Amino acid sequence: MKLHFPTIRSKRFPAALFGIVLVGLLLASGFHMGFVVLITQLGLSNFLQVNIPILYWIIIASGVTALIVQLTKNVYERPLKKIAQAARQVAGGDFSVYVPPIHAADKQDYMDDLILDFNKMVEELGSIETLKTDFFSNVSHEIKTPLAVIQNSADMLKKSSLSEEERAEYVDTIARASRRLSGLITNILKLNKLEKQNIQPISEPYNLCEQLAECALLFEDRWEKKGIEFEADIEDQATIEADASLLELVWNNLLSNAIKFTEPGGTVALRQTSTADSVEISVSDTGCGMDAKTLEHIFDKFYQGDTSHSTEGNGLGLALVLRILRMVGGDISVTSSPGTGSTFTVKIPASKGGK
Ligand SMILES: Nc1ncnc2c1ncn2[C@@H]1O[C@H](COP(=O)(O)OP(=O)(O)OP(=O)(O)O)[C@@H](O)[C@H]1O
Ligand SMILES: [Mg+2]
Repeated sequence: MKLHFPTIRSKRFPAALFGIVLVGLLLASGFHMGFVVLITQLGLSNFLQVNIPILYWIIIASGVTALIVQLTKNVYERPLKKIAQAARQVAGGDFSVYVPPIHAADKQDYMDDLILDFNKMVEELGSIETLKTDFFSNVSHEIKTPLAVIQNSADMLKKSSLSEEERAEYVDTIARASRRLSGLITNILKLNKLEKQNIQPISEPYNLCEQLAECALLFEDRWEKKGIEFEADIEDQATIEADASLLELVWNNLLSNAIKFTEPGGTVALRQTSTADSVEISVSDTGCGMDAKTLEHIFDKFYQGDTSHSTEGNGLGLALVLRILRMVGGDISVTSSPGTGSTFTVKIPASKGGK
C-alpha cells in the first residue's frame, strides 16, 4: 500500500487575510471620519447625524459577514460537501469514487491531505471487496465440483445393471469427493481462524527433529504406494520455541505437495540443519517443478498450478503454510524449475536456550 505524505500547510486562510482586514477596517474608519465631518458641515438634522453613521456601519458589517461566509464556503463547506457526497456513494457500494484534490501537489494543505487519504481508503476498500467476492466465488466453485461428482456417482449407483467392480468404483469416487470437501472445509476454517488471530500461537520449546520424523512417517504409506524414494537427513535434537500443532501443518503440507507432484520413481528429501540462531528445514522433490509464473502465485489462496483441478486439493495448503510461518516468525523460500523439481526451505528462529 502506498501512503501519501504531503507537506501540510497548517493554515487554509492565507496570512495576507490579516493585512486585508486591517486595510479594510482603516479605510472604513477613515470613511466614517469623513462622513462625520461632511454631515457636520452640511448642518444636517440631529436624526440624520446619528443615523447615517449607523447605516454606514450596518453596510460595512454586512459586507464583512458576506466575506466571511464566502470564505468559509470556499475553504470548508464545498470540499466537505464533496467528501460527504463521495462517502455516501461508497456507503452505497460504489468504490469507483474519486474526489479531486483542491490544489496542485506542491501547494497541498490538510484539506487536500484529507481528500487524498479518503481516495486511498476507498481504493483499499474496493480491493478488499474484490478479494472477498473472489474468495466466495472460489469457495462456491470448490464446493460445487465435488458435490456434482457425488451426485453423479450416487445417480449411477441407483442403476441395477452395474457390476460389482463398477459399483465399488462409484463408491470410491464418492469417498474421494467427500474427503476433498471435508479437507476444503477444514482448511478454510483453519485459515479463517489464523487470519482472525483466533489462534494465539503457544510458544513452547520442543524438539523439532522428533516432530519432523513423526510427520514423515505418516506419509510412508503414500510414498511407498507411489514408488517414490524418500530420503531424510535430520539431526537428533534441535529445540525451537513455537506452536508445535501449527508447525505440524507446515511440514504436512510441504511433504504432501512434494509427494503429490512427484512421479513414481522420483525422490523426495527432507533435510534439517541448525545454525546458532536458526533452524533450516528443506523439502525437495524431483517432481514436475514450477515455472516462474506459477511460482508467483503458489501462496495465494485457492491457487493451483494445474487449472484443470485434476490434482487433489484446493490450493489452500501453501496459503496456510505462509500464514503460520508469519505468525511464528519464520520464513519460507522456494526454488523450482519445470521438469526438474522443487525445494521449499523454511527458516525458524532457534530457541534462545540452544540445543
Ligand atoms: N512440490 C511442488 N512441486 C510442484 N508444484 C507444487 C509443489 N508444491 C506446490 N506446488 C504448486 O503450488 C500450488 C499450490 O499448492 P498448495 O499446497 O497451496 O495447494 P494444493 O496442494 O494444490 O492443494 P491443498 O494444499 O489445498 O491440498 C499447487 O497446486 C501446485 O501447482
Ligand atoms: Mg498442498
